[in-house]
Amino acid sequence: MVVNELVKLSRRDEIAIVTIDNPPVNALSPGVPEGILSCIEEAAANGSVKAIVVIGAGTTFIAGADIREFGKIVAGEAAASNLPEIICKIEDCPKPVVMALHGTAFGGGLEVAMGGHFRVMAADGLVGQPEVKIGLIPGAGGTQRLPRLAGIELALEMCVFGEPIGAKAAFESGLVNRIIDCNGREGDLLEGAIAFAREAIHKPMSKTRDRRGKLKDVDPRYFSAAIDKANATRRGQVAPLEAVDAVEASIRLFDRGMEMEREAFVRCLHSPQSKAMIHAFFGERTVAKIPDIGKDVQTYKIRKAAVVGAGTMGGGIAMNYANAGIPVILKETDQKALDKGINTIRSNYANSVRKGRFDWAEMERRMAFITPQTTYDGFEDVDVVTEAVFEGMELKKQVFAELDAIAKPTCILASNTSTLDIDEIASATKRPQMVVGHHFFSPANVMRLLEVVRGKATSKEVIATSMALGKKLKKVAVLAGNSRGFIGNRMVHVYLREAQFLLEEGATVEEINSTLYDFGFAMGPLAMTDLAGIDVGWRIRQESKHLEKPGVRRPMIADKLYEMGRYGQKTFRGFSRYDTHRVATADPEIPHVVAEATAGMGIEQRKIDRSEILDRCLYALVNEAAKLLEEGVALRAVDIDIVYLNGYAFPAWRGGPMFYADSVGLPQVLARIEEFEKQHGSDLWAPAPLLKRLAESGGKFSAS
Ligand code: NAI
Repeated sequence: MVVNELVKLSRRDEIAIVTIDNPPVNALSPGVPEGILSCIEEAAANGSVKAIVVIGAGTTFIAGADIREFGKIVAGEAAASNLPEIICKIEDCPKPVVMALHGTAFGGGLEVAMGGHFRVMAADGLVGQPEVKIGLIPGAGGTQRLPRLAGIELALEMCVFGEPIGAKAAFESGLVNRIIDCNGREGDLLEGAIAFAREAIHKPMSKTRDRRGKLKDVDPRYFSAAIDKANATRRGQVAPLEAVDAVEASIRLFDRGMEMEREAFVRCLHSPQSKAMIHAFFGERTVAKIPDIGKDVQTYKIRKAAVVGAGTMGGGIAMNYANAGIPVILKETDQKALDKGINTIRSNYANSVRKGRFDWAEMERRMAFITPQTTYDGFEDVDVVTEAVFEGMELKKQVFAELDAIAKPTCILASNTSTLDIDEIASATKRPQMVVGHHFFSPANVMRLLEVVRGKATSKEVIATSMALGKKLKKVAVLAGNSRGFIGNRMVHVYLREAQFLLEEGATVEEINSTLYDFGFAMGPLAMTDLAGIDVGWRIRQESKHLEKPGVRRPMIADKLYEMGRYGQKTFRGFSRYDTHRVATADPEIPHVVAEATAGMGIEQRKIDRSEILDRCLYALVNEAAKLLEEGVALRAVDIDIVYLNGYAFPAWRGGPMFYADSVGLPQVLARIEEFEKQHGSDLWAPAPLLKRLAESGGKFSAS
């Protein structure tokens, strides 16, 4: 029997089987919820059916809502979902409904599952309510049924922070009734679910919405703790706080709780925050697409890797390989530096163990993937080398020449340089087609961004392999052209320049940092400079001195701080002072440093308001981004947004600098840039031609 194309009804003796078959992930597209309900109703009406199993075909149960539908609802192109009513009707079925979960039962998928009377779950499955990650809250009873099944504390954790849980936690909480060990095989899950359904025929059953056992005597501190954690870890985001309120409403009568959930869901759905986060969600998928590299382009197999340099970056990069189960050689110049690098890796892993992410045995398993050494032994066998030595062209060329002499012809030679010319590095080899930038971000084992830098000779196969490798290392890989600083650092350069100029003109370090922090960045620009190391920036400037345009104003303070040995957090002094816990306080010496560094330059001191601080820092980013978009350094505006969201802690709920500029309105952004141009000159502030064209024609970056 087929009810519609997406959901099928079949029978095994007295058990009806409802199979959701909407590849690839059984998303709740229009027709799926209706199909499930009509199958259940048909089975319920059949006197010989005693119980019903609902299962997903393929690799997963329902993985979630069809996110494109949300946009259509906001645009008035689609009706609001009737999923809440459908789930209530499933719950009303007089015969036991057993939901069989495998893969990822997320969002609407978990909400449907909770409408069943029982749930069984594959041992390697995941369940979650990740809606907050796109600026929403569950909208079909998730905040009401989850507390009833799993308790308030876990429901808060899942709805407010969006992290999934595995089968063990789901079983222990009462969310699922049985774990079925089936090694992910669909057939075994079905057998287990049918066996459970046969038992369920004789079990007492109740509707989830009628259960109140776990809603009694709830400690109110759970809610205040969730609010505190949301304010600390999801600063500026509305949805997590709405989720707390909605879960709290579950203590009331079900219908009232559902009403409150719906109101909050609709508020979130129509908020700019969810639009921004949905933009980023789709953006992460878009950046994987490279117009001239189709699926037909071959990729190399990456079985073994090597990293040269075990410093800040090299150690983190090696951890990425180890985490992905790829054996990696880590090479240093001498034993001391090697030991230091390995000790840092060990202590990073040990921190993860202490935080409960994995156990000591898993740490040792990962460490075993890393082979520390001071020679090139074994390099002839590896499929990719990432170079992460000091940032200096001569040294990099020397290392690449050495690698060229020893690596096999199909080995990818990648540089982690933050700013240097990939083509020049490639010129040190006889195989420039195999040379590419793999620009990781610090800390490399944590930050999700990987810029893949395409040199003029880099082959399509190397690009395709690098993008696929990024995915394997659980990164978001974005392709960038070989421009100085690529996408991210080229933009951050002008952003940090403006932050220093503002300081030179009279704003304080605290005003500058707090303005950008309040905008939603994880930290202000000068705090970021102190964290990255003023010495690091100084070294980069030395490498690029010859590229500076004479007569153009350049920031003076960081160089002055460098000369004073104030390298930032690492020396406890930079733009701010730091205590041993790295907590910053204002440094009364800074005004003197500024006065000294800018003496005789004729810079007028004035009171600078927060809107100028914000606009100068952000529009410098936007203007530079528009230039690199036009130059083709970034493929699309959304690629820039993804770089900034994942590499520079741009607030997720603002969608990235280009999305932000679009939402402010490009004519307004242009007008402000033209004001700055009048005040500070065309060398620094000439509007990017693309920005001008779009602003004047009513266009948007998002469409470019
Ligand atoms: P680092 O100074 O912490 O580490 C560099 C390491 O390379 C040192 O341990 C040094 O002993 C080793 N080394 C030097 N020559 C070597 C050779 N011939 N063979 C083997 N090892 C050698 O520097 P960091 O910060 O890790 O930077 C490395 C590269 O990554 C640079 O190109 C930098 O621009 C880039 N980068 C740095 C980021 C950061 O935030 N620190 C972020 C992204 C890229």
